[in-house]
Amino acid sequence: MKISLFAMPSINSYRSKLPNVKTTIFTTIGNLARAHKAIDLSQGFPNFPPDPYLIDLVTKAMKDGHNQYAAMQGYYGLRELISKKIELQHGRNYNPVNEITITVGATQAIFTAITAFVHPGDEVIVLKPAYDCYEPAIELNGGTTVCLQLKAPDYGIDWELFKSKISTRTKMVIINTPHNPSGRIFTANDMLRLQEILRPTDIILLSDEVYEHIIFDGQAHESVARFDDLASRSFICASFGKTFHVTGWKMGYCAAPRALMHEFQKTHQFAVFSVDHPTQRAVAAYLKNEQHYLGLNTFYQQKRDFFLAGLKDSMFEFTPSQGTYFQLLNYETITDERDEDFAKRLITDHQLASIPISSFNVDNRDDKVLRFCFAKKQETLEQALEILRGFN
Ligand SMILES: Cc1ncc(COP(=O)(O)O)c(C=O)c1O
Repeated sequence: MKISLFAMPSINSYRSKLPNVKTTIFTTIGNLARAHKAIDLSQGFPNFPPDPYLIDLVTKAMKDGHNQYAAMQGYYGLRELISKKIELQHGRNYNPVNEITITVGATQAIFTAITAFVHPGDEVIVLKPAYDCYEPAIELNGGTTVCLQLKAPDYGIDWELFKSKISTRTKMVIINTPHNPSGRIFTANDMLRLQEILRPTDIILLSDEVYEHIIFDGQAHESVARFDDLASRSFICASFGKTFHVTGWKMGYCAAPRALMHEFQKTHQFAVFSVDHPTQRAVAAYLKNEQHYLGLNTFYQQKRDFFLAGLKDSMFEFTPSQGTYFQLLNYETITDERDEDFAKRLITDHQLASIPISSFNVDNRDDKVLRFCFAKKQETLEQALEILRGFN
């Protein structure tokens, strides 16, 4: 047998840049759900198809010959429509020439904004529970995440405590409204408080607004675009995946004032260059009809209301979600098991999958709350409700 002089290094000899990243709760729960053929309300995406017209538009774009690279910033027609949409909804003009970029979902917009601005030693404030892509991006860029834990059931923000987290090393603050997983929205007052606190600083604000069009009970989406001083320091990250029921297309956008966007695009052009061209053409054509996004609030509110009406006399306690397609349920009156244990038992013994919230919290704080995604077909929601009502 020949022995190579150059033995392959073992995986342990590589120094991980993300040593603390383990298998995510989404993978753990997803695998368990599949193994037990559970009804899956854990995954944050629809189990119904998108509009067939939107799919036809992609085919049309390909047949029309849009099969080569789009512009680095994205197809101009789409950037123009996004600019008009933001202006119509929030009264602020982002120049489509140099203040908007089309990205590979909101995830890439977030990663790029963090990479373009966070240097080793910088601090980034994150409100927990938080979506899971922020912290690894901060860590990969040598930054430190400074967490502010929000508490169930209302997940309100103690702005004095928030202020105490700011230091001379704070480079960025990340907010998310409507908020995954809590379903809470930032009010105009929250935004004004944030604006007042950030005004004397040069801190950059990254505003994750992927659920901008899923907001209930007639409330307004308080985008950072509505607030002069916030807008002047902010990246808005958004997702067509959420808005058009096509999370698998991974198409999003980012809007920011010119100077910030200039720096963003320096990183974007070498990480991605440009995003899938025919899909951009299709999304642009579809975006021309406002109803395709303005109708989303009613569409998802009906699902939320159906889900909650079905739980009215159940053992679960809840505050109705104000936005997103997630609903939190507190199960304290049923058991004092840890949320992860109860979520696993719900799958193995009852064939229903959800996400335990402790995985989004600082030190896995356990408020006995599970997250359920109601972006599902009526029959899926009915089956889930039958299981949840079985606890008494
Ligand atoms: C709060 C939040 N931000 C960002 C994303 C990622 O969006 P995209 O799929 O467009 O990358 C998600 C997806 O679940 C999310 O919930």
